[in-house]
Amino acid sequence: MKKLWGGRFKKEMHPLLFKLSGSLSYDKKLARYDLLGSVAHAKMLGRTKIIPPKDSARIVRGLESLLRDLEKGKLSLSGKYEDIHSLIQDALDKRIGAVGHKLHTARSRNDQVTLDTRLYCREEGRKIQLKLRGLQRVFVELAKGHVEHVIPGYTHSQHAQPVALSHHFLAYCGMLERDKQRIGDALKRMDELPLGSGALAGSSLPIDRFYVARLLGFSRVSQNSLDAVSDRDYVIELLSTVSILSLHLSRMSEEFIAWSSPEFGFLELDDAFCTGSSLMPQKKNPDPLELIRGTTGRIYGNLVSVLVTLKGIPLAYNRDMQLDKEPLFDSIERMELILDILSELLPKVAFHVLQIDRQLKDEGLYAADLVEYLVRKGIAFREAHDIIGHLIRDSLELGKRLSDRPLSDFRKICPRFEKDVYNLMDPYRSVDSKNVVGGTARNRVRQQIQRWERILKNA
Ligand code: ARG
Repeated sequence: MKKLWGGRFKKEMHPLLFKLSGSLSYDKKLARYDLLGSVAHAKMLGRTKIIPPKDSARIVRGLESLLRDLEKGKLSLSGKYEDIHSLIQDALDKRIGAVGHKLHTARSRNDQVTLDTRLYCREEGRKIQLKLRGLQRVFVELAKGHVEHVIPGYTHSQHAQPVALSHHFLAYCGMLERDKQRIGDALKRMDELPLGSGALAGSSLPIDRFYVARLLGFSRVSQNSLDAVSDRDYVIELLSTVSILSLHLSRMSEEFIAWSSPEFGFLELDDAFCTGSSLMPQKKNPDPLELIRGTTGRIYGNLVSVLVTLKGIPLAYNRDMQLDKEPLFDSIERMELILDILSELLPKVAFHVLQIDRQLKDEGLYAADLVEYLVRKGIAFREAHDIIGHLIRDSLELGKRLSDRPLSDFRKICPRFEKDVYNLMDPYRSVDSKNVVGGTARNRVRQQIQRWERILKNA
């Protein structure tokens, strides 16, 4: 095994320790960032004349040829190496000879690994933001297609008040917007170059950290070397935002699973996104949505894993920190897959409008509208609430629909009722009456669709 250390050791590493400490099987995902960070570092070493500029140029050429090989899938990322940093150093040495040994000047794996991880988080954070924008667009398209469709809205999973189906979709747009912004906040905070912190104390060599920061697109350099090498807040922040995002997608999945059941019958998923049963030939199961709901547990687990790993370790770098990578990669990769699946699955959902309409016949959905009707006629809210409550109870006992009862029945309990009360038990009228900012009236929803289209065009 080719190590980056070893001078002071008499013995080879025990194979069991190698098994425990080796990280190449997963940190090979950082290969590209390790190479990009090394290119910037090597350029800086030449520019500051810490190493001769011609050596710097040879190292940079060597690293760039490794990068090209990596992109073509021609760089082998396996072998008996402790980690990706050792593999790349060895690959460079093989390609350009002993001059490659100068690359690690004024650098430690401690500042190198956190640079690589930051670059990874920055790129994946941006990727998730783009995928979220794509998913928001899917919801806006769904909303555009369903402005005229009303559904029973639910609280406590019970019929509450009618809402526009498009209003429901746009609620998810708002959730995803906050997720996107949270990632943006995390990206702003992680926009800081840690390289130059050395193992923990900085460097005695005249490095130019601002030059490296510029090359790598960081707007700041870290101001405390101890903090910089031990900070993994950016990993935790990204995992937290992905956890909240996962929570939102889990709730949405749960809703769609319920709506696809025969009890609701509100929607049907496309065959390509369902599976069958090995025993029951009639089954069509919403597996992707169940897996999205279930993966939320795994994504929370990854966040908790990193939180707990870090909570007990003192300044500065400690090897425990290596264990942040698998949970990080796992959450990011799972989330990207989930976002891709949803962006394909959702546009193909068929909504069964007739089945939904059947539920809108439940007159309980209009009870709150009846209360506000009486309020408009000058009756105090509490009193109006009581009056409608009595009417409903009474109708239930008589086994009669409210709309089938004569006006005299209404008047008996409150003389302010007039003929127009019957008009209230209509889903469109109900929805359109919620004409406040943020309400479900169809014209408000249309405005919101336009607002989202504007936001998503510029985002
Ligand atoms: N594989 C290590 C990690 O991911 C790299 C840094 C190792 N540094 C050290 N001094 N052992 O954290």
